[in-house]
Order: sequence, then C-alpha cells, then structure tokens
Amino acid sequence: MKATNSIPVIHQQAGSVAGRKFRNLRISLTASCNYACTYCVPDGKRLLRSNEEISSQEIIRMIRLLKATAGITKVRLTGGEPLLSNKFDAVLAQVMTMGFGDVSFTTNGEYLLKKIDIIRASGIKRINVSLDTLVSERFRKIARSGNLENVLRGIERVLEAGISVKLNMVPMRGINDDEIISMLDFSLARNIELRYIELMQMGHLLNSPEFDQQFFGMDEILELISNHYSFSETRLNPDATACLFSIAGKGRFGIIANKSRPFCVNCNRLRLTSNGRLYGCLSNHKNHDLRPLLDLSDDEAKKDLRLVLSKAINDKKTPWFMGEKTVMKFIGG
Ligand code: 5AD
Repeated sequence: MKATNSIPVIHQQAGSVAGRKFRNLRISLTASCNYACTYCVPDGKRLLRSNEEISSQEIIRMIRLLKATAGITKVRLTGGEPLLSNKFDAVLAQVMTMGFGDVSFTTNGEYLLKKIDIIRASGIKRINVSLDTLVSERFRKIARSGNLENVLRGIERVLEAGISVKLNMVPMRGINDDEIISMLDFSLARNIELRYIELMQMGHLLNSPEFDQQFFGMDEILELISNHYSFSETRLNPDATACLFSIAGKGRFGIIANKSRPFCVNCNRLRLTSNGRLYGCLSNHKNHDLRPLLDLSDDEAKKDLRLVLSKAINDKKTPWFMGEKTVMKFIGG
C-alpha cells in the first residue's frame, strides 16, 4: 500500500492563543511626554502626569520577575517620552546587566543630545527615534512642540557613538505623505533603517473621520517608492511585525502595516505601563495590576505572575488590530 503523507491541519480559532508566548517586553517609564503628536493625543492635549507611577526599583523587580516567568528575551523602554523620566538612567543601566539578547528604547529624540553620555555609557546597541518629517514648521504642527534641529543633531550624535538607529515615520495623507521618499533618502544616506508605521486607530482616532482621511497604507507607500528605487521583500523571523524590504547596495526599509498586513497572530509583545499594569494586547484595554506582587517574596510573586501571564496571553485579540481607546502615550509604543 502506498504510504500517504498525512499533514496535520491545525484549525486555530481566531482569538486562540494555543502555544503562544510572550517574548518581547515594552516598559513605559512614564505617561508624560513633551510632545503632543496629532495622532497620539487630541487637540494638543497632553495627558496628565501619572501620580501613580511606580519607582525604578519597582520596575526593575517587575522586569526580573517577568524575565524569570515569561521567558522575555527582548526589552524596549518607551513612554510617553522615556528620556523625560528620572527613572531612565537607572532602569536602562540595570536592564543592560540582566542578560537580555536585545535592549532598545523609543524616543522622540528631543533629549538625545542631553542624554548622550548616559546612553553611550549604558552600552546599548540600538534605539528607535520617532520622526515624521524633515520640515521644521511641519514638525511643530505634528508634534505641537519640540525642535527638529535638536532631534536631527541628537540622531547624528547617536550614530557617531556607533549606536544604530531606526526611524519611525507615520505617513499621513495631506500632512507628510510627500516626504515618503525624502525620509527614505535621508535614512539610506545614514545607514538608518526607516520604518513607515501605518496610522493606527488609537485614542481619538478610533471611529474618527480623521483616521480615514489621513490613513496612508502600505500599497501606496510601496508604489511611491517603486518610482525611485527597486526593492525586494526580505524574509524575517516569523514573529516580526514589520515587512522588510531591501534596496540592493543601499540598505533597507520596513513597513509596519498593522492594517494592510496585520501581524497580530505573530505578536509576542507584553506591555508594562508606568503605573504597574500589564497589557497583553494593544487592541484590548484589559490589564493586570502587578503592584500587589511587590509585597510578596520572589517565589510567591513568580507563582502569582504565572497565573497573571496565562490570563494576559488570552487578552491577545486576533487576527488584526481593531482599534483601542487607549493611546500609545499611556500604554507604550
Ligand atoms: N498610529 C501609528 N503610530 C502611532 N504612534 C503613536 N500613536 C500612533 C498611531 N495612532 C507611534 C509613534 C512612535 C511609536 C512609539 O508609536 O509614531 O513612533
């Protein structure tokens, strides 16, 4: 009898999390930000400074516990604006000694110059800078604050220190979509990987006509780029959230196409907010308060944390980002 190759078919329900694990931890050091970007907060409003923020020692203990229980391999410090937080120096220095394979942070870049010595001394290898435009007046319209010159000089200093930089740009129709190529030229010339992030329906953009007007998707981005560069899509590790493209001899760029090419099924991210709440999913405001664990011994805390993590992994919604009233500024980008 001829042997048949039976290929097991796994019917995974939408929302099912069988076999999924958290690997990638994002820690928001503060919900405060010196910018008020149009896609993050409405009407120039800065969200209130959280008076419930946990201390750097508490954050570090939570990271240790999460590393031991969730098998975290990647850590990113975020905000708000992490460089604004007086916890930044201590948390970064500690995280760098914990043996994570990959540590980075996301910043708007305004204080990179001020913080360059701390950053260099930490031994960090890479950072992400949010930058939506290279035009000063536009910069102030989008960020409603800040100074493009500071950001650009900061980026140069970071590169000079041998730290690699990724840029995050949110292309928006009628606002900065005419800079898709100039931002790419700028990045390729400096060995920077540019990542276009499709506008997400968070906070005030949830169910808002502004979102539909401004959304500028992957197909259009690629079409524009194809008029200037030839590129090919490169394969990434399966849990990556960005689609990566390489331009022969010049470098590469990525698109985080949360709408056009949803990546939720691969997401292994876990978020810790500056007030000690754990979020398993950006699309779900459900969260878990870790602060009570701080009163427990390590062994007891780990036991409780395993339970929390099994709940948080079930918070993951699939298969695509569905919008959320929470804003990136609070939950951490
Ligand atoms: N849509 C897309 N990107 C966003 N960010 C914040 N809010 C949004 C949104 N609504 C991005 C910022 C930053 C990262 C942390 O999150 O541009 O690069």
